[in-house]
Amino acid sequence: MSSLFTPYELKDVKLRNRIAVPPMCQYSAENGVPNDWHFSHYATIARGGAGLVIVEATGVAPEGRISPACLGIWNEEQQAQHKIITKNIKDAGAVAGIQIAHAGMKASANKPWEGDDHIPDSDPKSWQTIAPSAVAFGTDALNRVPQEMTKDDIQRVKADFVAAAQRSLDAGYEWLELHFAHGYLAQSFFSRHTNHRTDEYGGSVENRCRFLLETIQAVRDVWPQNLPFTIRFGVLEFDDKDQETLESAVYFLNKAKELGVDFVSVSMGFSTPNSNIPWGPAFMAPYSKYIKEQTGLPVASAWGFGLPHLAESAVHNNDMDLVMIGRSILSNPHWPYEAAQALGVKDPAWTLPAPYAHWLSKYRI
Ligand SMILES: Cc1cc2nc3c(=O)[nH]c(=O)nc-3n(C[C@H](O)[C@H](O)[C@H](O)COP(=O)(O)O)c2cc1C
Repeated sequence: MSSLFTPYELKDVKLRNRIAVPPMCQYSAENGVPNDWHFSHYATIARGGAGLVIVEATGVAPEGRISPACLGIWNEEQQAQHKIITKNIKDAGAVAGIQIAHAGMKASANKPWEGDDHIPDSDPKSWQTIAPSAVAFGTDALNRVPQEMTKDDIQRVKADFVAAAQRSLDAGYEWLELHFAHGYLAQSFFSRHTNHRTDEYGGSVENRCRFLLETIQAVRDVWPQNLPFTIRFGVLEFDDKDQETLESAVYFLNKAKELGVDFVSVSMGFSTPNSNIPWGPAFMAPYSKYIKEQTGLPVASAWGFGLPHLAESAVHNNDMDLVMIGRSILSNPHWPYEAAQALGVKDPAWTLPAPYAHWLSKYRI
């Protein structure tokens, strides 16, 4: 009996298995509007059999996109096209999630395959970036100094998250993920590397969590209680301060839980280029387990779970409730079928839709 292929329920949402596709930017939109690429990409992935498909980082405002080609959800046109994505995902039997995001200091960048660097200020495609402090990320590629946010900016971005959450609901998403990881805006409020403020949004851990908690509270008011309200958060940086960062993360996540966050996708901070990440198979599993134990929140994690037995062990050992499978699903959208075969699931072909499953279940070479 495979643990990975047991159903999972959170609030009123039921996933057919524990496989989740994490958000993965496609850098394929114009003006933030989903198009044919997104419709077929997300339909294909959902047909592959995952229980949950979380749509890529989607800007809550134009300046919150990583690149000019990132998705957005700040206007009617975008919302209407997102409805097609959610329908495609649901028609394939998966639950449709969305990650709403503000890229902060890392915004206004070129697509990864066109440099992955900040667009020069002189280029009309670039825009003014904002962040808690006027601190650049600090690599050669991402060296633009953002503008320090005023209190008005903070209120505006919170309101943008609220409006984006409302639009996500109206577009048919049933799983909301706030992007509070990876050195983007919220994570950069949390991190000492990037938050040098001296007002109530900087300094102590309480103050560095303020923007995040206020945003959670504001979004909580519009996102329904019966649907999963989740965050992706970087719980450590792999710098020389990991114990302190993990303790602060536990403090923050317990506060987030009190405010009604239901689930956390455990990730890294990516707030500083001076990190030493121990890349390897399933290397985030112990941290996910730690967060689960310290907060009592259900968790998921990504990063190197693409071998079926690793994903299976993560659920079986109770390190995590869901396993995020990213690049392995880009490589093979039918990865869940492959995993079902490898794990000895009964009738593995039926991980896929009937028009495929019927034939594959009878297939003999
Ligand atoms: C093409 C691509 C785009 C990504 N975009 C996002 C994103 O929009 N939001 C996010 O939180 N992480 C993003 N990530 C990170 C993935 O969600 C995931 O954590 C990562 O791919 C590691 O999981 P894996 O080893 O299964 O691929 C992206 C990764 C890839 C490969």
